[in-house]
Amino acid sequence: MTALGQSAGWWRSAAIYQVYIRSFADGNGDGIGDLAGVRARLDYLAELGIDAIWFTPWYPSPMDDGGYDVADFREIDPLFGTLAEAEDLIAAAHAKGIRVIIDIVPNHCSDEHRWFKEALAAEPGSPERQRFWFRPGRGPDGSEPPNNWKSRFGGSAWTRVPDGEWYLHLYSSRQPDFNWDNQDIRADFEDVLRFWFDRGVDGFRIDVADGLVKDPRLPDVDPGDETPFSDQEGLHEIYRSWRKIADSYPGDRVMVGEMWLPDMSRAARYLRRDELHAAFNFDFLVCPWDSERFRDVIERTLAAHDEVGAPAAWVLSNHDVTRHVTRYGREGDTGFAFADRLHGTPVDRELGTRRARAAALLTMALPGGLYVYQGEELGLWEIEDIPDGLRQDPVWTRTNGADPGRDGCRVPLPWSGDAPPFGFGTGGTWLPQPEEWRSSTAEAQAADPASMLRLYRAGLRLRSELPALGPGGLEWLTQGDGVLAFTREPDFTFVLNFSDKPVALPPHREVLMASGPVEGELPTDTAVWLRT
Ligand code: NOJ
Ligand code: CA
Repeated sequence: MTALGQSAGWWRSAAIYQVYIRSFADGNGDGIGDLAGVRARLDYLAELGIDAIWFTPWYPSPMDDGGYDVADFREIDPLFGTLAEAEDLIAAAHAKGIRVIIDIVPNHCSDEHRWFKEALAAEPGSPERQRFWFRPGRGPDGSEPPNNWKSRFGGSAWTRVPDGEWYLHLYSSRQPDFNWDNQDIRADFEDVLRFWFDRGVDGFRIDVADGLVKDPRLPDVDPGDETPFSDQEGLHEIYRSWRKIADSYPGDRVMVGEMWLPDMSRAARYLRRDELHAAFNFDFLVCPWDSERFRDVIERTLAAHDEVGAPAAWVLSNHDVTRHVTRYGREGDTGFAFADRLHGTPVDRELGTRRARAAALLTMALPGGLYVYQGEELGLWEIEDIPDGLRQDPVWTRTNGADPGRDGCRVPLPWSGDAPPFGFGTGGTWLPQPEEWRSSTAEAQAADPASMLRLYRAGLRLRSELPALGPGGLEWLTQGDGVLAFTREPDFTFVLNFSDKPVALPPHREVLMASGPVEGELPTDTAVWLRT
């Protein structure tokens, strides 16, 4: 038996912790995080008070894109461990009451995937090539790409092979896009879902969930218009078939989509009752530090999700974006855009940390599920000064250094001790850790009641205990300019002061939680949970 609650619909208000495996904890001293490292830290996660773990890809991979270039969807990369270890880890997590979600990457595979190698070896027009998007080039000698699509990692989305054809890759050239009009692809992914459901996983986080289906005409696009390779009508049918598979398993198996769509009501269409369960709310993630902007995105989110009966999924950070302590501490623009990471903009880290604490209490108080990216509970900031020669993200190389890439939010976690590798493992770390993390280790923070870690632990615990913070809605309260406030039933009020002066608290019986010192008035960039 497992210690999992019986709760049907657990995902509607779950707190889900994202483990970016290679940076979480290293069990064998090679400097790269692995399953043994996670296994050894399950108690830490249980104590944090999360309901589930989402593991980023653990499949065999040349690691051109941190494992999002999958060579085999039914195995574990030897860097991380074995299939038996993964099965044990799932069972061990379940025994502690923690569910397990894994990443599935259906838009593309690695150039080392068997099917892509077969496609390269086969003739133009062959069935092997039809599993991908191979096309002749343009221009008299076919030396220009078939269309003007750009890779999201920089450069053209097309690479030419020796016989003259080109293949499509929306990401790196080592990540060929699958052709989802091909039945082999559909059948294989359905089998992959079953493979992992049979091994006990509670769900999938779907990578590039909006991108599988392409407009088969492959038309040129105008800048900023992603329509032919995003949010195509044919996608819904795929997710309906996946939902049937998920629903055919006992328990409550879920699918969470990664979709960066410009219009939230479009994303919500994938959350209709027979499609996906949830989708990350990136409008919330990119929102600048401003009360009106936050209120607007929260309102729009709840309205769009209510329409389809799906819960919101709040997220502040992940392995693709600048850590939010840094974003919120920036001079000027505190929002986030993929195309402009604003590295090098001066950062007031104390300010960013204060705001990150307030933002944590905000996400924990909103109706819906929430995601915690490993290290945010330690208040880690973006490491912007990784030496160029050590950078690993293909974004860095494909943009010729114009975009620093995502390594700065992927630095291995500091667990304990006074110097790198800070208990990450017994060897080194695949990206260098800053000396300043001495005071950010999990060990140091566990002993400090004022730490970010203690705030997360207390907040997540209370969130799971307070009836008001389960599923349900919220009512806005008007508390004056620059103040975001709402109530939830029964007896709960949330207030966050974005303004530059202290504000009075609404009437209350008790301060349940505060993101910083509160004496009578609520200081700038501080949030409180009140019992009313
Ligand atoms: C989104 C993932 O989160 C990111 O890390 C990856 O590079 C792309 N999808 C491509 O798989
Ligand atoms: Ca290792």
